[in-house]
Amino acid sequence: NYRYYVLDAPLISDAEYDALLRELQDLEETYPPLTTPDSPTQRVGAEPVKAFGEVRHELRMLSLDNAFSDDELADFDRRVQAALGSAQVDYAAEPKLDGLAVSLLYESGVLVRAATRGDGSTGEDVTQNVRTIASVPLKLEGSGVPDILEVRGEVYLSHAGFHELNRQAGAQGQKLFVNPRNAAAGSLRQLDPAITARRPLDMYCYGVGKVTGGKLPVTHSEVMAQLAGWRLRVYDDIRVVQGYSGCRAYYRHYEKIRDDLPFEIDGVVFKVDRLDLQDELGHVSRAPRWAIARKFPAQECATRVLGIDVQVGRTGALTPVARLEPVFVGGVTVTNATLHNQDEIDRKDVRMGDTVIVRRAGDVIPEVVRVVPKKGRRRGPAYNILATHPVCPVCGSRVHQAADEAVVRCSGGLF
Ligand code: IVH
Repeated sequence: NYRYYVLDAPLISDAEYDALLRELQDLEETYPPLTTPDSPTQRVGAEPVKAFGEVRHELRMLSLDNAFSDDELADFDRRVQAALGSAQVDYAAEPKLDGLAVSLLYESGVLVRAATRGDGSTGEDVTQNVRTIASVPLKLEGSGVPDILEVRGEVYLSHAGFHELNRQAGAQGQKLFVNPRNAAAGSLRQLDPAITARRPLDMYCYGVGKVTGGKLPVTHSEVMAQLAGWRLRVYDDIRVVQGYSGCRAYYRHYEKIRDDLPFEIDGVVFKVDRLDLQDELGHVSRAPRWAIARKFPAQECATRVLGIDVQVGRTGALTPVARLEPVFVGGVTVTNATLHNQDEIDRKDVRMGDTVIVRRAGDVIPEVVRVVPKKGRRRGPAYNILATHPVCPVCGSRVHQAADEAVVRCSGGLF
């Protein structure tokens, strides 16, 4: 499991794995006392619950302050320098995963509890659900594991996991999840752990809470390496960078590769690397003074549909386009977004006057993702491309839709 789910480097084939797991199951059935709580067969086993119990975190789970520009990032570095009275500060840089924060409690290296962040002080007991996440070790391996170790991290769904989940939901006529973060949260907060077990959840660890009966290294980056040494899953490109310029370079790099990553990130996080300096800086209300999230421009924003037009493309395809109230999304001001075709308009039920979520990721054409429902508001009529455009808006020829196609095309006067 460790080689496959944490290191992403299995040494045996899936078939060999299945055979070994089967053999283990048989052995445990024949000799029940040999079944240990950390056995790979025991990840799902708990009964559904009626409600989640409450968990008070040993140490508050803090949030992060945000920087939305280079200037705000530079301000953060200046504040840190001034407070520490030092010239150049080393930061640990890591991606900011878009999932939900979870705290794992290991006692003598055994996972005994997992909780959501909740309000920071009190969260929900999701132990049985987190146990089903294959990359979360039920038992830590290696020397020097503290008696009590609270590990914090982000539970998330990869893009592939998200699309697979929505494909299944769609096939069963269920409601689709709007984004990977909501899907991850919904999957983790299932009262039946057997359902969570079928969701391809994953977790990266990014910090520790309470630690007693053991010593950890003196920098954040070394602590992360130590966690990885105990078999916890830690992102493999956590880098120590110098000062503001080092932070900016790391941010620029992730801005470029963001869309190539297998999971959604909404920015990068910088943390003062030395833990003694973190202590010196402390925190204000809900966020530490020693860390900042440099956020990417949002890829999804709400705006209003002012009208629906069509564009005629090179192949004669009539593409419906939503004219929008200008909105700043994905780093640019967007005034139009594609609606793809009539099937998509029907599926999303987009109408003039609606408030919609627009998405622009990377160089991809902005698109209308979904309508924001508004209770009790009268809406305009449903849009139909053939009704509004019986003829091509460019050349006036009749338009035509083939029986097996979603696209409406200009006939070019040929029929
Ligand atoms: S550190 C004391 N590191 O972002 C600092 N958080 O907006 C606590 N997040 O609640 C958080 N990736 O759920 C940290 N590499 C990362 C993170 C990360 C994602 C989430 C986390 C936190 C939220 C704050």
